[in-house]
Amino acid sequence: MTDSPRTEAAVEAALAQLDLETKVMILAGQDMWSVPGVPEIGLASLVVSDGPIGVRGTQWTAEDPSIALPSPTALAATWDPALARRAGQLLGQEARRKGVHVLLAPTVNLHRSPLGGRHFEAYSEDPLLTGAIGAQYVGGVQDQSVGTTVKHFVANDSETERFTVDAEVDERTLREVYLAPFETIVQAGAWGVMAAYNSVNGTTMTEHDELQNGVLKGEWGFDGVIVSDWFAARDTDRAANGGLDLAMPAAGSPWGERLVAAVRAGRVSEETVDDHVRRILRLAARVGALDGVEPAVPEQDRPEWIDGDALAREIAARSFVLAANDGTLPLASASLTKVAVLGVLAKDARILGGGSAQVFPPHVVSPLDGLTAALPGVEVAYAIGADPRRKVPVAAGTQWAAITATFRDAAGATLAAVPLQTGAGMWMGLPDGVDPARLASVEIGGNLTPEVGGEHVLSVRGLGAFELSCGGQSVFEGVLLPDSEDLAAAFLNPPEQRVPVTLAAGETVAVSLTQQVNLPEGGLAVVALALGHAAPTGTEDELIAEAVRLAAEADVAVVVVGTTEEVESEGFDRTSLALPGRQDDLVRAVVAVQPRTVVVVNAGSPVELPWADSVSAVLLTWFPGQEAGHALADVLLGAAEPGGRLPTTWPVRAEDCPVLSTTPVDGRLSYAEGLFIGYRAWDRAGTAPRYSFGHGLGYTTWAYESLSVVDDVATVTLRNTGSRPGREVVQVYLAPVEPGDRPGRWLAGFASVVAESGESVTVEVELPERTFSSWDNGNKGWRRRAGAYRVTAGGLSADVTI
Ligand code: BGC
Repeated sequence: MTDSPRTEAAVEAALAQLDLETKVMILAGQDMWSVPGVPEIGLASLVVSDGPIGVRGTQWTAEDPSIALPSPTALAATWDPALARRAGQLLGQEARRKGVHVLLAPTVNLHRSPLGGRHFEAYSEDPLLTGAIGAQYVGGVQDQSVGTTVKHFVANDSETERFTVDAEVDERTLREVYLAPFETIVQAGAWGVMAAYNSVNGTTMTEHDELQNGVLKGEWGFDGVIVSDWFAARDTDRAANGGLDLAMPAAGSPWGERLVAAVRAGRVSEETVDDHVRRILRLAARVGALDGVEPAVPEQDRPEWIDGDALAREIAARSFVLAANDGTLPLASASLTKVAVLGVLAKDARILGGGSAQVFPPHVVSPLDGLTAALPGVEVAYAIGADPRRKVPVAAGTQWAAITATFRDAAGATLAAVPLQTGAGMWMGLPDGVDPARLASVEIGGNLTPEVGGEHVLSVRGLGAFELSCGGQSVFEGVLLPDSEDLAAAFLNPPEQRVPVTLAAGETVAVSLTQQVNLPEGGLAVVALALGHAAPTGTEDELIAEAVRLAAEADVAVVVVGTTEEVESEGFDRTSLALPGRQDDLVRAVVAVQPRTVVVVNAGSPVELPWADSVSAVLLTWFPGQEAGHALADVLLGAAEPGGRLPTTWPVRAEDCPVLSTTPVDGRLSYAEGLFIGYRAWDRAGTAPRYSFGHGLGYTTWAYESLSVVDDVATVTLRNTGSRPGREVVQVYLAPVEPGDRPGRWLAGFASVVAESGESVTVEVELPERTFSSWDNGNKGWRRRAGAYRVTAGGLSADVTI
């Protein structure tokens, strides 16, 4: 990104007016989500927000909803950088609407192991695909003159011991694999990068002079801001000298007076501080937060208004990977009279992954809602079948009314009352009008009118002292303590207390959960508590039997299986790839009575599918975002083609994965496999996965007719040989004839094509210079590897020598 000379002059002029204390002040947060402004020089306070599927804003509640797009794994499964650009533009539009200047996204760490807890939040196991999607996503957000922070720089590919783990990665592997997407995106003009929690080769990333100052700012010419991951800045001098520009949030920042003192004592030079400040001012100028400077993209040049619901639906449908299909899909709606929709996730759709990626959408269309709406006149019958959630779900849905959070002082006076959509409340920064010093309690209450009578379960989730009452009676009073030493993980996944209560059908009771609150003075104003509720259901066997009964009576069974928030989230890694609970039993029992069984897999990352070869179709839908059900109906009924191709390999069994463990040994996680992650490793091991990287069927068929390679451009001709129009992702791989120290093949380029039935299309795919090169540790540079290569695309191959 080249800014106009006027912008640079304005940045210098603003910098020249600041004294040391003020410079240092704007290098750290003033609270959880903003950087202080300096009105005297026309610098507004910069507001940041997560990221990456929406723009949560400065609250962690549904008060200020945001569009929720499909998970990043889904966006990558589209293999469509142009669609990623539109996703970015929509998020930039959301950021503008919510007063956010910088979106804390995208996550471009790699799928090193499917156990990685944030796997759903990263794009792919392949650096080229990750870089291509990430660069356009960033470009799209920045088209709205909103900043991004490409994260987490670098080697933050799993969560176990995430604050302290030392990733041991050799330089060539770093360059060719883990740094590669960052490099692509930075060279495409990103305005921000987020430094990770972890260390790389012995140095914590926020202090990593070699990678931050040397590679990122030096070699790649990055002129934007490096922001710390939250609480990752630890040492005053080392962070300032190691290249970190902005320490977030306010609490825990090692800068402030300590950095002023370090400059005065000569341990950090004022030039170093000036460079950090210059970058903050430049970012402010780019996003329009520095008076008198035109933002990087003036308002009139920004994209036309984008319909978020429509785009969320389009991306979801385009991301669904049809992994197997015996011809059952698409379903012909005219021939249907009864459809059985089975699995608790069909009703309580899991549309996003857990942790900081969470946003609160204005509405959610579940698979059941979507299919019911798309099939008027058809009986759509639902049964829970299996409920894999280990924790009681938060209170929500049609049995609940008037859910409200009430903030009170010690005398019981109401400071604020906020309506909520569900029984979960999380605030980082309190609602308007609530003075943290006066806050003594927070209550989440609502009216519950049970549909069925019997033993219901209410639950308390949170950390601290609580009282739960139901129908005016106190049913629980006690203290919940963290069950993990990682306080962030304990905060994101707090302990639970269950309380059984007997309720009558149709009789409304008031339920309320109150937490005593005593916020530390000057600390972070964080309040988090959740009221849960589960209505009585049958036993696990009875639930399966009920689903089987519906399936047997229906024309087709759609079983939705997947993971839960206890499985895929920030803060911890997965321990297994098996579907939780009795979901495998459910699928097997249904398929035994219903020959037309379609399984929809609602998981952000790979899961084992032991019954895959016995069902009619398997559709992988990731975490599909707020329009989940509409997109599912579009695809199942053939209004849209499932456009996705796998951005990551799906194993048969976890133990088949060539790289699996994410558990550090003595604080170190060795990336000993080097370049061999993902399909590169599967190829070398010679083990067959369940579904390969790049796999995905559509509703038509393709014949690849010719492939030629001239001057690093592959030209591919292919024909739609099916009876419907379709879309294909042409994937071009490069394989050295003598691999030596290199993988057997790698993705060198890709492009999507659309064609009518019978139509033939030709597409050119550029093979970048870098694809023929490898990192030379000895000479510290890229080396073009001359020799013979085989180029493949869709079963064809061409030989080239360079
Ligand atoms: C996450 C970041 C996120 C930040 C702010 C951290 O725990 O690792 O991805 O942007 O919190 O929520």
